[in-house]
Amino acid sequence: MRFWFALLILAGSMGAQEFERQQAFLKTYCAGCHGGKAATGGFHLDKVKEPSTLASNTHSWIRSKIRVENGEMPPKGVPAPSLDAREAFAKWVDTELKREACSGGITVGPRPLRRLNRDEYTATVQDLLDIHLEIGARLPADGAGGEGFDNAAETLFLSPLHSEKYLETAKLAMEFAAKEYKSRTRILVAKPEPGVTPDQAARKILAKFLPRAYRRPVAEMEYAPYLELFQAARKRGEEFEPAIFFMLRAALVSPHFLFRMETGDFALASRLSYFLWGSLPDELLFDLARDKKLNRPEVLRVLVGRMLRNDRSQNFAQRFIEQWLHTRDLGGDRMPDAKLFPTYAKDEDLRGDIRLQPVYFFREMLMRGVSILNLLDSKYTIGTSHLEKHMGIKLPLDPGRRTQPQWVELPEGSKRGGVLGMPAVLAVSSYPYRTSPVLRGAFILDAILGTPPPPPPPNVPPLEDGKTAAAPKSVRERLTLHRADPTCASCHSRIDPMGFALENYDAIGRWRDKDGGKLIDNTAEMIDGRKFAGPQELRTVLLEKKDLFLRNLASKLLGYALGRGLTLKDSCTVDAIVAEVKENDDSASKLIEAIVLSAPFRGESEVAK
Ligand code: HEC
Ligand code: HEC
Repeated sequence: MRFWFALLILAGSMGAQEFERQQAFLKTYCAGCHGGKAATGGFHLDKVKEPSTLASNTHSWIRSKIRVENGEMPPKGVPAPSLDAREAFAKWVDTELKREACSGGITVGPRPLRRLNRDEYTATVQDLLDIHLEIGARLPADGAGGEGFDNAAETLFLSPLHSEKYLETAKLAMEFAAKEYKSRTRILVAKPEPGVTPDQAARKILAKFLPRAYRRPVAEMEYAPYLELFQAARKRGEEFEPAIFFMLRAALVSPHFLFRMETGDFALASRLSYFLWGSLPDELLFDLARDKKLNRPEVLRVLVGRMLRNDRSQNFAQRFIEQWLHTRDLGGDRMPDAKLFPTYAKDEDLRGDIRLQPVYFFREMLMRGVSILNLLDSKYTIGTSHLEKHMGIKLPLDPGRRTQPQWVELPEGSKRGGVLGMPAVLAVSSYPYRTSPVLRGAFILDAILGTPPPPPPPNVPPLEDGKTAAAPKSVRERLTLHRADPTCASCHSRIDPMGFALENYDAIGRWRDKDGGKLIDNTAEMIDGRKFAGPQELRTVLLEKKDLFLRNLASKLLGYALGRGLTLKDSCTVDAIVAEVKENDDSASKLIEAIVLSAPFRGESEVAK
């Protein structure tokens, strides 16, 4: 008892010491313009003088942190703190603000109104009408927001262009459905027969269709405007069926369809199905929501397993992985140069296999419930005959289906474990025509560890291409020259080493021992002086940073699942999710389960344990 008490006091005084240390930082570098009588830009150091201001004046702390982190404060021309001091300040503010935010326990957080994004819209129309039409291709593209995904509410507003396009696509989709046997059977569940009036049949069809479109039960009065449309079409002389499709077309432009406006258990049903399937809930989810049985931990646990095993979870794996690892850009901005890499450019099957390898890998991990750390290093990969050849290793592929993507064990010493051994990831973190240890290093810091390097300063001269110099130099040699300059080294000695370790993979992820006629030097030294070499030792280094990785991945997944950017308060939820996953052998499926069971996802107001 006394021991714990002493420890608490000690921790308290250490906290106080750290607070004083950061105060000294502020006095040294900021007081000239934000102290005494000066409150430049409306900011005075008094606003951040006491520990209590972390709670009462959060905004000033956040602004200070951001401006210091970005190197904007203090401005150029006055004595500047070292990068280390800046980062220590920013990190300290972050930690303190999170601690403060979490002291109130876990909260649900904001739930902004959002529309279906383009992919969700397409999948929803397809499921609703039972058609296979890439209808969303006609809609404007969605930008990325929040945690970097295209389903973030922040970006999903409705422009006039959208409204016009939605009208067009609704018409098109219905015309298509009206001709398809499968969708006609699904939609036309009644017809006027002896004893059934056209109005009665229309009402019956609508009662089946509208709740699915709205993803919730529909009140009696909500049917009326649709039935009026049906009657108007009939008055114009339309036959029964065209009048029905005319009526249903209106549902596809209703805000209740286009926006996620469901509430209560039905909102949870939609959140689940849009998270794990990218489309509307099925009958089972709908029934559980109606019976108020959905929002129970034991039910949700079973559902997550069932939903991940369903084919539709491929949609989740693809959308999440391709946005998280940027492999979506492989077809566009980061297309490897066709002249330098003709095999890649010419072989469409190979390109497809490369792009989908991390997607299938992630999905298999979820279904198999293996450790999420397989993303960093693994004994397994996804193989096909094309990938086998491209990666230059022999894989135990099933002889009957060598071209089909399959989960296979990697041979001993393959150096291909985890996403950093996959050509797609190695290609998107390269330039189209060469590798860049800087880009790869920055990629690992940002996408894998969630600790992005500060943005590069403007006006940095590009790497000379190495041909103009007296003797041709490798990318590494050219970068080493740059790092002799201490201002460059402040960032690059942190960014480049992890990239150097991956230099044995070329710009499309093939193994190589030489570059520019010289043996590849894959040795690296971290800023703490630790030395390592090659991809396999890099994987060990990353596994030691497992906590950073788990936290980053959990944040990304939670942001994706909630469809919004995370707030300071959400970091408490992320901590709880990470703790839960660690207690369960870092299980990948447990991670998804913990996200679904979290308070912000379930929408409960009480504090979760
Ligand atoms: C040489 C003068 C100078 C120094 C030193 C200086 N600032 Fe500033 N600061 C300014 C000026 C000018 C503005 C208003 C213009 C702007 O926002 O860029 C400003 C604005 C601000 C703001 C308010 C604007 C916002 O972004 O919300 C904050 C917060 C701030 N500074 C933090 C700091 C911190 C923290 C330090 C020390 C690490 C610092 N400043 C050092 C000149 C200075
Ligand atoms: C504040 C951190 C920071 C500083 C300081 C910095 N850089 Fe960078 N640099 C970066 C980042 C981040 C990238 C990766 C940019 C990207 O993602 O496109 C980069 C990219 C580069 C590249 C492109 C790498 C390639 O493969 O072509 C070169 C060259 C470069 N920096 C040189 C320099 C030089 C020279 C200096 C010093 C004058 C310098 N940098 C200072 C952060 C920094």
